[in-house]
Amino acid sequence: MSETTSTTTKDVKSLSPAEAEAELARLAELLNKANAAYHQADAPEMDDADYDALKRRNAAIESAFPDLKRSDSPSDQVGAAPSETFSKIRHAVRMLSLGNAFDAEDVAEFDRSVRSYLGREDGLTYTAEPKIDGLSLSLRYENGKLIQAATRGDGETGENVTANARTIEDIPENLQGAPEVLEVRGEVYMSHDDFAALNERQEAAGAKRFANPRNAAAGSLRQLDSEITRARPLRFFAYAWGELSAPLAETQYDAIQRLETLGFSTNPLTARCDGTEALLAHYVQIEQKRATLGYDIDGVVYKVNDLALQARLGFRSTTPRWAIAHKFPAELAWTRLEKIEIQVGRTGALSPVARLTPVTVGGVVVSNATLHNEDYIAGRDAKGGRIREGKDIREGDWVQVYRAGDVIPKIADVDLSKRPEEATPYSFPTTCPECGSPAIREEGDAVRRCTGGLICPAQAVEKLKHFVSRAAFDIEGLGAKQVEAFYGDDQLPVKEPADIFTLRQRDAEAFTKLANRDGWGETSAKNLFEAIDEKREIALSRLIFGLGIRHVGEVAAQDLARHYTSWEAMAQALDAARPAALAHRKADEAAEAERAAAAEEGRRAKLAEARAAVAGDVPPEAAEAWADLIGTDGIGPTLALSLSDAFANPDERAAMDRLLPQLTPLPPEARATGSPVAGKTVVFTGTLEKMTRAEAKARAEALGAKVSGSVSAKTDLLVAGPGAGSKAKKAADLGVETIDEDGWLSLIGDA
Ligand code: IVH
Repeated sequence: MSETTSTTTKDVKSLSPAEAEAELARLAELLNKANAAYHQADAPEMDDADYDALKRRNAAIESAFPDLKRSDSPSDQVGAAPSETFSKIRHAVRMLSLGNAFDAEDVAEFDRSVRSYLGREDGLTYTAEPKIDGLSLSLRYENGKLIQAATRGDGETGENVTANARTIEDIPENLQGAPEVLEVRGEVYMSHDDFAALNERQEAAGAKRFANPRNAAAGSLRQLDSEITRARPLRFFAYAWGELSAPLAETQYDAIQRLETLGFSTNPLTARCDGTEALLAHYVQIEQKRATLGYDIDGVVYKVNDLALQARLGFRSTTPRWAIAHKFPAELAWTRLEKIEIQVGRTGALSPVARLTPVTVGGVVVSNATLHNEDYIAGRDAKGGRIREGKDIREGDWVQVYRAGDVIPKIADVDLSKRPEEATPYSFPTTCPECGSPAIREEGDAVRRCTGGLICPAQAVEKLKHFVSRAAFDIEGLGAKQVEAFYGDDQLPVKEPADIFTLRQRDAEAFTKLANRDGWGETSAKNLFEAIDEKREIALSRLIFGLGIRHVGEVAAQDLARHYTSWEAMAQALDAARPAALAHRKADEAAEAERAAAAEEGRRAKLAEARAAVAGDVPPEAAEAWADLIGTDGIGPTLALSLSDAFANPDERAAMDRLLPQLTPLPPEARATGSPVAGKTVVFTGTLEKMTRAEAKARAEALGAKVSGSVSAKTDLLVAGPGAGSKAKKAADLGVETIDEDGWLSLIGDA
């Protein structure tokens, strides 16, 4: 082709539509091939600069000829910078998130809970500083040298972005006078000015604009080519730390000062505040400065100043007890609600979703919002009270949308003056839109649920998506999208979790079929089968969580795994407890009926009696297994009943029985080695004088002990303070070792 007729070099503006179409086809082929080579074969065929140039050209042509954009456009291919290509780093100390406060009452509650945990009447000193809206990064220094930078990831494992972090000016390569091991944590962000300039450059290059500075910062940090990161003006504020070989200071405030002295940028609006009033005053100050800071913040973070107290307070499963984020009020926008659609979740819940005319709320384009449930649409709360002054929500309505932080957008209000005349009240379906089974609402439940169980394709697919999700089996290359494709695939169907693990043995041709599928190839098929095999050994807690049983979240699954330590033990215990579970439910129902009757007759007595009467019919082993289950820390009767129902449901149990032979569930690791109480089941009773009950329990758990609420044959140790009653007696009857608080403190080495 001669230079003058070649479309490959021609300026985009001078292309004819026909030439543009041909050029888009050529670029799609080249880029899609390069993508496949890059992701699936680990053998990039094109260098990054050429790849980027072609991609920009493709985007420029698409923006000049929007009608010619192809359905397989490389602009829509996700994974241009796939996370799989960064190596993984396990954080030495987990990277946590923060609990939220939304108003002064929440802040007061935070302060109360901190003081009650510590058993302190007097006021505490806190620090308050802006919550930067960026992404967190952990920097590891050894002997004063930066050796590693990792993103937060799931909190336990992040991505190795060391080369990229080195390009950020605020991040020093060398430190003078730092502890031998120092992990500095903070936020990577982009200033408003830099963000605007970057978007101009993107636009000029025909590349995608970023929706907000946080997305731009995240996209820039997670570049495979660190030269691209270098060209992006990222900044970093240090505000926390991970592993340390020596403490930085005695207080949070001084530790931040120390980081500043070591050469990090720290936020100038960090203050020390005595008590909640001072915190709230600083919040107002920061909020007033928000618009002129030049970077995005989305709230103010409060932290207990005394680091020894921080250590005593410790962590819940994912958040520290000693800190909280006081968020700024949500951002609002008005738009049209075009349609109400119903989504069916993994537990059969029918969730109404508002499809909106897209609108920008706080820098993000929103086109969907949750409508919660049918009462919410009708303008009622769970107790039958009015919300939005009783205004219902209809298709066609003009609605106010809000977003608070990362949470799903919600609808705050309806403008009745703009309601179209033809709008009619929304009638919530009473059959499942996916499988046609009746959708029923149980007494006291705000949610209507499809009764189709696993015959409902929506429930089955959602259960599978949950099964492969990050906190469950987390199979690389098998995400929500792939699971959906497999579910609907006649050639290689995956209808339930067991099918994932039997894919290859069920069909000798599985590999070839997969490799020939669109978007797959030999390498990606091989990788998938390997990734599946890797997860045959799985933590028991992930397995329990992955089953997607209602009410059984990640933390409860960990509690159950710690309690039972094996799948067999748990299944046997649940089978044994079943008669007691049924009796419990019957007793609850009887008590409810009794309550209603008693209320009618003006007698409120007999509640407990009804329960006791039914509970009396149960075989002792069942009663014991049930008491043991609901006595497990973190496991209440609602969760226990739901778990019991799942194991007693023949279809669900059969699916578990097909899955288990494919797996080797691993017992939970003993959390703390070396402590004499690790792995022991401990019960606290009576009054504790040197610590609160909450602190005692958290401390015991941190040392690897299980804390139970009731004494049984499985109890290893009873810690009894003054006033201990029936539990001490039962322990004596069972021959369980009993010690006092001082005995406990010296046992765990805190005396
Ligand atoms: S402290 C153990 N301080 O907010 C808690 N976090 O919602 C460590 N963040 O993941 C976090 N500004 O990415 C802390 N001044 C600040 C922060 C901050 C922003 C982010 C951080 C964290 C998230 C939690």
